[in-house]
Amino acid sequence: MKVNQSEFIISAVSPSQYPQDALPEIALAGRSNVGKSSLINRMLGRRNLARTSSQPGKTQTLNFYLINQDLYFVDLPGYGYAKVSQEQRRKWGQFIEQYLTNRESLKLLLLLIDSRHEPSKDDLLMYDWVRHIGLPIAVVATKADKMPRSQWQKHVKVVKETLGMPKDDPFFLFSSETGMGKEELWSHIEQAIGY
Ligand code: GTP
Ligand code: MG
Repeated sequence: MKVNQSEFIISAVSPSQYPQDALPEIALAGRSNVGKSSLINRMLGRRNLARTSSQPGKTQTLNFYLINQDLYFVDLPGYGYAKVSQEQRRKWGQFIEQYLTNRESLKLLLLLIDSRHEPSKDDLLMYDWVRHIGLPIAVVATKADKMPRSQWQKHVKVVKETLGMPKDDPFFLFSSETGMGKEELWSHIEQAIGY
């Protein structure tokens, strides 16, 4: 996809604030700091549209980005951030669950996993749950630039095996730093929204 236009629309804290125009949505989930906001910026060719931070927990609401007046990226708050209270975690769970289970325009969930590490318990829970509810999912292994090329294959294998991914399920090795994986991921997104 050629991105001609991208803009931040709204930071939603309740469903009444979600966009009403029924355009297809691609949501991004993953633990805090995994690179969700950075991936959005890279996909859109924007330096700083989605706010990124080396401190985890930056994105706390559902952030909607409109692309070419055709589709939305929805940046979800990251999970697994140690410093949040039980109460906040519970609220997070309800909030995300409500969006992921009830949103007709949601066409695909991108689950981001740090390519350097074995997926966490939370990653596994998320992956299993999303599959369970029948939402199309693609796994994106981030920060590939942080390891030598010679280690890619090994790490990809660990991620896929830990998640128990079926062989041909969509998987992308990605780097927001270099742009690796960008075109492949766009093709998959276009396919998911029937573009
Ligand atoms: P939350 O909003 O807290 O959930 O985090 P996030 O998943 O949106 O992560 P964010 O995009 O803010 O990135 C976190 C940190 O990782 C930042 O310092 C980014 O610069 C860095 N980062 C993200 N993606 C990459 C990547 O592909 N390569 C490298 N080298 N660094 C990355
Ligand atoms: Mg973020």
